[in-house]
Amino acid sequence: MGRKILIALLVNCLLWELVSAATDKVVCYHGSWSKYRSGNGQFTVNDIDPNLCTHLIYSFVGINTDGSILLLDSTLDVNNANFANFNALKTRNAALKTLVAVGGWGEGSTKYSAVAASATSRATFIQSALNLVQTYGFDGFDIDWEYPAQRGGAAADVQNYATLIKEFRTVFDKHGLLLTAAVAATPGSVDQSYDVPALSKYLDIINVMAYDIHASWDGVTGQNAPLYASSIDTTASAKLLNVNASISGWISRGADPQKLALGLGVYGRSFTLSNSAISGLGAPVSGAGNSGPYTLEAGMLGYNEICEAQLAGGWTTVWDDEQKVPYSFKGDQWIGYDNPRSIAIKASIILFIVNYAKSLNLGGVMIWSIETEDFRGICGSKYPILNAIKSALGTANENIEENVNDDTGGNDDASSGGGTAVDDGNDTPVGDETVVDDGTASGGTGGVTCTQAGYIRDPADCNKFYYCLLVGSSYQPLAQQCNSNLYFDLESQTCNWPQLVSGC
Ligand SMILES: *[C@@H]1O[C@H](CO)[C@@H](O)[C@H](O)[C@H]1NC(C)=O
Repeated sequence: MGRKILIALLVNCLLWELVSAATDKVVCYHGSWSKYRSGNGQFTVNDIDPNLCTHLIYSFVGINTDGSILLLDSTLDVNNANFANFNALKTRNAALKTLVAVGGWGEGSTKYSAVAASATSRATFIQSALNLVQTYGFDGFDIDWEYPAQRGGAAADVQNYATLIKEFRTVFDKHGLLLTAAVAATPGSVDQSYDVPALSKYLDIINVMAYDIHASWDGVTGQNAPLYASSIDTTASAKLLNVNASISGWISRGADPQKLALGLGVYGRSFTLSNSAISGLGAPVSGAGNSGPYTLEAGMLGYNEICEAQLAGGWTTVWDDEQKVPYSFKGDQWIGYDNPRSIAIKASIILFIVNYAKSLNLGGVMIWSIETEDFRGICGSKYPILNAIKSALGTANENIEENVNDDTGGNDDASSGGGTAVDDGNDTPVGDETVVDDGTASGGTGGVTCTQAGYIRDPADCNKFYYCLLVGSSYQPLAQQCNSNLYFDLESQTCNWPQLVSGC
């Protein structure tokens, strides 16, 4: 009996390892001030769908100079019971974890630098954070210090920040609480701010803010969150300003990939073109783009504002296939942003971002932030970006399992392992874009051979197509599907009306 049981045990262990290493976290930040927005932009805790995220993070609280927590809007958070309502979302999803974030861009860096430098104020900070978390029923605390040793911080911040989170960990472990952080993404910024192995050791999740990579301060148009370098990025430093280099950089500096959550921006960065006739990537700009009706901030637009503006017409949208993100322009306004298609590609690709991917799949994704999603479904179905993430992670996890099952050559028990792909029958189409098929990966990939990176159409069904991704030394098909009624068009590389698609 010995040998058979041993093999069965080994296969089970492998499957278990796989399931436990799944890329399944979807961390969603919520900026509570969206309650004050007007019209369709107003977003309250009640607008959150508690089943689209695994972790929800309430943003932000601040700190006083002694390290104690400072409520930035106590009327909303406490008197109007926003903290309590936020945590009550767990009654609608028992697996949901909630956290509260301290810091953010507006809080700056200097207070945090001073507090982290003193053992006394660190202890005050940690005790006050514990008190906040326990008083209101959060499951953990998220630190958004932007950024250690930058923006007025000191060189010693790198070490002091590592000490701070080590001490946080000691206290939080006694209470079974989560400790996470939002961190800078690009390699240059990481090298200034972090002791990466320490962060990886003490944090449960490292939320990598892989956006704000280009904006109007560059003086030319550029993408908020390009997946890869563009051919216009010619210098060595410019080649590092993208999502792939950021995640690879975190891993090569010693981060455990399973602790990384790839940050996805539910917004774009906007620009005013110097000359409306020059509207490509790298075009000269006179400054930030006009502010949107809800976020009211020059130089950025929520995804909801972008899609609503596009409904009104007049925009030209270009898919940048090098960087795997779209940009749109109209008159002198230019926006680089993410849509459900680019988000699905990033969510699928995070499992394969480094070549020996099977052991290095990331922990999941993070979004900033839920209130600029199309949460009302103004442009199509509700929550198109979060639904694209859910589908993409389901498909990607299935593909990983198939790989490992193939490798073991063992009994293909994917039906039980396939549990990571959640099909809740809530597979909403994502506007005129494609949805990643969270259905049957095994049946779907049968008979298709990938020989190079890019899209191929299913020879038997024009509604289905695959993205071929380099995994190790071979190409792996990721099954995707157009909305019903549409066919995949090899010429435009998108889903299109059947009468416009040749070869079907
Ligand atoms: C992604 O990053 C890795 C590591 O830096 C690099 O080797 C690879 O070429 C990058 N991929 C693309 C498509 O740029």
